[in-house]
Amino acid sequence: MPPQSKLKVLVDREEISKTVGRLAFEINRDYRGKEPLLIGILKGSFVFMADLIRHLDLPLEIDFIKVSSYGSGDESSGKVRIVQGLKTPIRGRDVLVIEDIVDTGITVSFLLDYLRKKKPATLRLCALTHKPSRCQVPVPIDYLGLTIPDGFVVGYGLDLNERFRHLPEICVLESEK
Ligand code: IMP
Repeated sequence: MPPQSKLKVLVDREEISKTVGRLAFEINRDYRGKEPLLIGILKGSFVFMADLIRHLDLPLEIDFIKVSSYGSGDESSGKVRIVQGLKTPIRGRDVLVIEDIVDTGITVSFLLDYLRKKKPATLRLCALTHKPSRCQVPVPIDYLGLTIPDGFVVGYGLDLNERFRHLPEICVLESEK
């Protein structure tokens, strides 16, 4: 943790659980009769994805893609790289991308363009959190969990320099006055 900062709970376990349940309800409803491929963006989405899929009553498959946009610390480098690609062909599939947080929008926008070129039948985005105040590239989020204020958040999969992913709540890092 940076010196002089403390963690404050922004989204508690109950609100996370209700949000995941609502998103799962919408996805179950919209993908009825389909066999979607859920693609989690590593590493941040792994906790959210693990909870979400256990609420889904669909013959789904999962895969992961790893991108890097942040170097170290809490500022995006703005350059997105695919560090680990997909194992599953997506041509003709109903693809649902699972993201933990949409901040500037640069990462998901790059990734959606990349996936679209592979000609899936449908391509949608589910994001647990969104910080609209930070938006640089507008991205339509088909399934949105929570809108959160600007501020760096950690927990429930989200990290700062690889720490805090294990926290069960979403917390904001606040500097102590
Ligand atoms: P974007 O490209 O700026 O939208 O950033 C997306 C990626 O940056 C996310 O997948 C996260 O890995 C990371 N990120 C953005 N904001 C935060 C934050 O507040 N806490 C932790 N990671 C973040």
